Amino acid sequence: MSRILAIETSCDDTCAAVLDGPTVLSNVISSQAELHARFGGVVPEVASRRHLELINPVIETALGEAGSTLEEIDAIAVTVKPGLIGALLVGVNTAKSLAAATGKPLIPVDHLQGHVAAAFLEPDPLEPPFLALVASGGHTLLAEVEDHGSFRIAGQTLDDAAGEALDKAARLLGLGYPGGPAIQREAEGGDPDAFSLPIAMSHGEGLDFSFSGLKTALVYAVDKLDPAEVEARRADLAASFQSAVVGQLIAKVRKALDAGEWQALALGGGVAANALLRERAAALCEERGIRLKLVELRLCTDNAAMIGSAARYADAISYPGYLDLDAAPR
Ligand code: KG4
Ligand code: ZN
Repeated sequence: MSRILAIETSCDDTCAAVLDGPTVLSNVISSQAELHARFGGVVPEVASRRHLELINPVIETALGEAGSTLEEIDAIAVTVKPGLIGALLVGVNTAKSLAAATGKPLIPVDHLQGHVAAAFLEPDPLEPPFLALVASGGHTLLAEVEDHGSFRIAGQTLDDAAGEALDKAARLLGLGYPGGPAIQREAEGGDPDAFSLPIAMSHGEGLDFSFSGLKTALVYAVDKLDPAEVEARRADLAASFQSAVVGQLIAKVRKALDAGEWQALALGGGVAANALLRERAAALCEERGIRLKLVELRLCTDNAAMIGSAARYADAISYPGYLDLDAAPR
């Protein structure tokens, strides 16, 4: 089972990739960000309709860039959960029809397992065991990865995801969508210590995350300023908020490293594209003398190559067993 065509449509990116073992032959991502930007976030119905238009050309491009025909593919992998149900269904139904039409096996994949499995890809694949921080628009969790096919959740967010918090803060500051990159750009000219925003949650000493208090603190800080001051201090607000989000992520990773014998840390999910997080994680791992695995940016944010990577360690279903396979939002 060496050549896999993978499909990912769980949120607002229409993605297809071809893998040969751990080597990515193509990784096509058609972002809908511009389409959703004018609404300030992802509109599920709009996302599903756009996936329908894009999925076939994206798959054709992925096969073309990989120099592969559909006949040369050994199995088709697809994200089946979690995500927007209408969006997931476009990928699942496309994968089913392609697999059924060609008699090939289908491999259902969990999106979060995909973010973890990005670390298994060439170049420099990371082998378990390792600790992984997965932070995206929908999830924030610390995963104890003991083998390729599964992970244990050591901590997760009790309210907003880190990316979601960044997206909401960006909207509040008038910085547009998606918020993470916009906050990072704005923060470049700002002072991260200008506003004192709470890093950690006020209660609980565990490995769980919480970002809603931080968001509220930003709302209060902005409310105290008049519009001209917000304008003038936007970079400071963005830098302070980014620093608090990254500060909490790093604080929990530090705590998790203290509690175990980890020799490596991997960062995954869209927020792992954040330059400050990468820098702080690098410093922490250097201090501990452990390996840090940073995947390239295109493998951090949603993509199908990571789904293909997870599929290599998941169970394949042969035709026609997958015909009644369903997608699940959670
Ligand atoms: O993994 P992903 O592409 O989709 C989900 O599964 O959610 O993550 C998207 C999230 C968004 O919240 C976006 O604002 C955030 O990742 N993000 C960033 C950066 N690039 C994307 N956050 C901080 N800094 C970035 N450079
Ligand atoms: Zn994701």
